[in-house]
Amino acid sequence: MLTSTFNTTKSEEIFTAAQQLMPGGVSSPVRAFKSVGGQPIVFDRVKGAYLWDVDDNQYIDYVGTWGPAICGHAHPEVLEALKQALGKGTSFGAPCLLENILAEMVIDAVPSVEMVRFVNSGTEACMAVLRLMRAFTQREKVIKFEGCYHGHADMFLVKAGSGVATLGLPDSPGVPKSVTASTLTAPYNDLQAVQALFENNPDQIAGVILEPVVGNAGFIPPDAGFLAGLREITREHGALLVFDEVMTGFRISYGGAQEKFGITPDLTTMGKVIGGGLPVGAYGGRKDIMSMVAPAGPMYQAGTLSGNPLAMTAGIKTLELLRRPGTYEKLATITKTLIDGLLTIAKDKGHEVCGGSISGMFGLFFTAGPVHNYEDAKTSDLSKFAKFHRGMLERGVYLAPSQFEAGFTSLAHTDEDIAQTLSAAEEVLGSI
Ligand SMILES: Cc1ncc(COP(=O)(O)O)c(C=O)c1O
Repeated sequence: MLTSTFNTTKSEEIFTAAQQLMPGGVSSPVRAFKSVGGQPIVFDRVKGAYLWDVDDNQYIDYVGTWGPAICGHAHPEVLEALKQALGKGTSFGAPCLLENILAEMVIDAVPSVEMVRFVNSGTEACMAVLRLMRAFTQREKVIKFEGCYHGHADMFLVKAGSGVATLGLPDSPGVPKSVTASTLTAPYNDLQAVQALFENNPDQIAGVILEPVVGNAGFIPPDAGFLAGLREITREHGALLVFDEVMTGFRISYGGAQEKFGITPDLTTMGKVIGGGLPVGAYGGRKDIMSMVAPAGPMYQAGTLSGNPLAMTAGIKTLELLRRPGTYEKLATITKTLIDGLLTIAKDKGHEVCGGSISGMFGLFFTAGPVHNYEDAKTSDLSKFAKFHRGMLERGVYLAPSQFEAGFTSLAHTDEDIAQTLSAAEEVLGSI
């Protein structure tokens, strides 16, 4: 599988130039390959399950532009819908029917969502939801979990997993202590720690926000009873439960992790898939809470490009495709074949590994596991992951360039793609 033609000369030239133009040469940190070494690949085009770089190397993609490409890149029906929408203009800055259509689809699909506000990114959605949690409860403190990422807003940059972990930053300079002072943290899957925080901060905690399945510390599912326990504790203390489904929304199932696990939070944030590859985020939930959002209520939040017709169109078409019969079964089957195969091969080759998948989301750690939280995830052999990543890249398989990121499959991945990926893994895992 290793092609002697693997040549990244143009990628290297472009990235070298990029480093003079943009901090670290990228528009978002994890893309810089800091944790796996080597220079990042510069892409030219994408289609279905594949990426092509500027040197014309082809890759099977398991990043899916970090989640949105669940139907496969550049899906012909999404592109066609976008072409039609483009003819009518790119932004109205005023109400459009497409917002109603996507809002209805989201409300129908996601159990907690009775009303929704569209924004432009997952970060924006999480920033707004935090303000809303505080406005509604008139309390300031909030609990997040170690290793969960809720975008790059100040108050969430505490033990934030993902890019922050990848770069080894404990936090970020520039974030005022006063802002994060009211962000309390607990280990994921630890109900006792959450209970203790509530007991030590009586009537002060607005709510709990979490990734219902973690993707930003690697793939970590919730233990049985964890989500139900959080639902109970938050209710007991008059606090809100917020699922950040920016990653899991419309991926874990059509109704997100809340549908999959049967636990309904008060509020939900979304992004990625609902934008079908264009910039969209959203937050929604109980009508009485959402009615606080301006102009219905006093909690201010706004956006020039929010709800723009192109983003709404890509989202609507993507959800239409996902609603078709058999989509989530297909995602679950191919993803399970992939992760089961990777785990079996790795163990056969003598590596300590653990991992799993739910629907089209998966992950593997180079540690015996089990991994229940971020501390466990950090026991993974990062230098082995870096070698694995490089070996797979050279064999035409594009994995997320960090141990602390989940992987994604799409409806475009075929059995043949999975078989090809596993045969590359056989070679790489046998040589590291
Ligand atoms: C769970 C979660 N929340 C929020 C965000 C932030 O979303 P965005 O990158 O669109 O700002 C991400 C991004 O990866 C995410 O995975």
